Amino acid sequence: PAPGWTLDADVVVVGSGVAGLTTALRCAAAGRRTVVVTKARLDDGSTRWAQGGIAAALGEDDTPEQHEADTLVAGVGLCADDAVRALVTEGPAAVHRLIASGARFDTSPRTGTVALTREGGHHRRRIAHAGGDATGAEISRALVEAVRAQQGQGIRTVENALVLDLLTGPDGRTRGVTLHVMGEGQHDGVGAVHAPAVVLATGGMGQVFSATTNPAVSTGDGVALALRAGAEVSDLEFVQFHPTVLFLGPDAEGQQPLISEAIRGEGAHLVDADGERFMLGQHELAELAPRDIVAKAITRRMREQGTTHMYLDARHFGAPMWEQRFPTILAACRAHGIDPVTEPIPVAPAAHYASGGVRTDLHGRTTVPGLYACGETACTGVHGANRLASNSLLEGLVFAEHIAEHISELSTEQATGQPTGQSGPAPALSPADSADSADSADSADSAATVTPLLPPAARTALQRIMTHGAGVLRSEESLTQAAAQLAALHADTEDKPAEPGVDTWETANLQLVARVLVAAAIRRTETRGCHWREDHPERDDAAWRRHLVITLRPDQQ
Ligand code: SIN
Repeated sequence: PAPGWTLDADVVVVGSGVAGLTTALRCAAAGRRTVVVTKARLDDGSTRWAQGGIAAALGEDDTPEQHEADTLVAGVGLCADDAVRALVTEGPAAVHRLIASGARFDTSPRTGTVALTREGGHHRRRIAHAGGDATGAEISRALVEAVRAQQGQGIRTVENALVLDLLTGPDGRTRGVTLHVMGEGQHDGVGAVHAPAVVLATGGMGQVFSATTNPAVSTGDGVALALRAGAEVSDLEFVQFHPTVLFLGPDAEGQQPLISEAIRGEGAHLVDADGERFMLGQHELAELAPRDIVAKAITRRMREQGTTHMYLDARHFGAPMWEQRFPTILAACRAHGIDPVTEPIPVAPAAHYASGGVRTDLHGRTTVPGLYACGETACTGVHGANRLASNSLLEGLVFAEHIAEHISELSTEQATGQPTGQSGPAPALSPADSADSADSADSADSAATVTPLLPPAARTALQRIMTHGAGVLRSEESLTQAAAQLAALHADTEDKPAEPGVDTWETANLQLVARVLVAAAIRRTETRGCHWREDHPERDDAAWRRHLVITLRPDQQ
């Protein structure tokens, strides 16, 4: 649809989690006119739901090198070394800057320094937390407050705005975005923000599955927009399933309560239907093995025992520790009739995090000039085949600063979109098929054609297809069936096109990312990190120590 109103800016940031708001604050501090657009309210993204914390080598017995080693092991051979190095070396200072800007982290009563816990895959205590188990909520509060303080003086916010598509000029450079705004007075309806730099920070795509820890807004909008704009996406097959999500029944759908790994970090045990600790002997870190290993072990034991869930036993914490250290989780369990002080918590894996996303370089640049991606939307390479626990908030923080720095260093002409007679800096991503990175360029030939709008009812069908066909455990058969069913969803609607609206656009985005995800998962004929193929149960380094990089052909965009 043609825009009914427009705004002009130097930078438009799409999304308002840690990645988006940090980028916006830094761009505004550098004097760039910044517009933040967000689909719901400023604090409605995934960041607010993060529990365990933010990882950084802050402890006396820790170093960035040890954090790097744990990150690389979790990523199973697919991390980008330079991106990981940036993450772990810049992480501690970035967390201190966050604290300086107003985020209040828990401190040790003995030393007064930031209190640190452990999570899966970490050999050290290095997870900083806030409000016990409400780290994301505190980070979100501090960043939203900082942005509101800048409102009208460098940062403008547009809430309830679903971004539709990227605007580009005849030279292929970014010129802004179109968006649909609901109920915001003068900005109701379809509009556009014109800006030479667009930063996608829309979070994840957990809503492609039936049960997820992600909020309702996580519908893969940034990845879908980037695909339609011709950008490269990478590693979409690596969907992380969090091992311990409160089990509310086999048919539970939508956002489910997370039971943080920090509970295991403080000594909770995973037990099966017979009360037996089944992680002992499976990995040197037992319950604190990397997340993919724990999720697989849980799934295997559920299959062996013919059950739908396992249990997390933390009764030995006692009521005072539960109340002080994990108040959010305690309240969530009690709200569902489970008291973790007196009974083990029923848990099962659920979709949690997209380790892949829109492919970027170290500056956060995508393959479309002027288009950046940050946080869960991006694939910077720090996560490889499986993200290390609590590296996600850190990635958003660190790479937001890279992006803001890059945008701030652009000449005024480039940054304000004035014609310069040249096309500006070209993205410097290594070629997708370069020998040293052993990437492989793949077009999503089987993935998608032009995405039609889909009726909201198609969403539930899509989520079930993905859960059955592309969930924790996949096979060629389950994936090809999912691909066919997703395509049929599209064919079903050809005679009765859905009305444009937020629900239908979101469902179309979900379908596009689901189809590309499935295409990548079919292609990767091995088991690695969080991609688990029943028919290819081994890792195949000779064939698959490489990335699947996907773009839509122009006729598919
Ligand atoms: C958790 O608290 O278990 C989640 C942390 C994360 O996703 O990194």
